[in-house]
Amino acid sequence: MKQTDIKSSLGKEDVIDIIGQQWMLVTAGTKDSYNTMTASWGGMGYLWNRPVAFVFIRPERYTHDFIESNERLTLSFYPESYRKALQICGTKSGRDIDKAKETGLVPVELEDGVMTFSQARLTVVGRKLFKAPMKEAEFIDKSILAQWYGGGHGGLHDVYVVEIEKVFE
Ligand SMILES: Cc1cc2nc3c(=O)[nH]c(=O)nc-3n(C[C@H](O)[C@H](O)[C@H](O)COP(=O)(O)O)c2cc1C
Repeated sequence: MKQTDIKSSLGKEDVIDIIGQQWMLVTAGTKDSYNTMTASWGGMGYLWNRPVAFVFIRPERYTHDFIESNERLTLSFYPESYRKALQICGTKSGRDIDKAKETGLVPVELEDGVMTFSQARLTVVGRKLFKAPMKEAEFIDKSILAQWYGGGHGGLHDVYVVEIEKVFE
């Protein structure tokens, strides 16, 4: 895995597609204690004069604990052949299974002690800048509340904005 220039590596990507359709793993923690989960909601852009990424994590995710207790996280992207692995990481909890063992993904520690997996074709390292819980009252289109937060969907997401510090290919 080699560090690359942020603009030239992410400039090649269709962010809506790689997050929304191809999915990513959000990983936080250290070599000895980390967790990962699949996410398909999020984005990348420019805020406070920095390149940033934002992710939306429901508080009940085990990964949420690790995002809370660590300064950084990674977003990692995989070839289509890993769809099954991402499916597992998005339907099982690290509270119940060892996701690396179950999927064959090989954990790799990067600089700054962050974690990704050797099979990733792209890993974005982000440092937390901002967190806010979504609040019911702030939804302008209330139909989204019923659609995504009613009947068994789970809690309102926490929004995290992270500064994109490094990208590895
Ligand atoms: C395609 C896909 C996308 C997902 N996107 C998100 C997301 O953006 N935010 C979120 O909180 N959960 C998302 N999930 C659900 C978590 O990945 C899932 O609850 C996972 O089992 C959490 O694992 P953990 O408890 O080990 O953290 C997604 C699941 C799938 C399959």
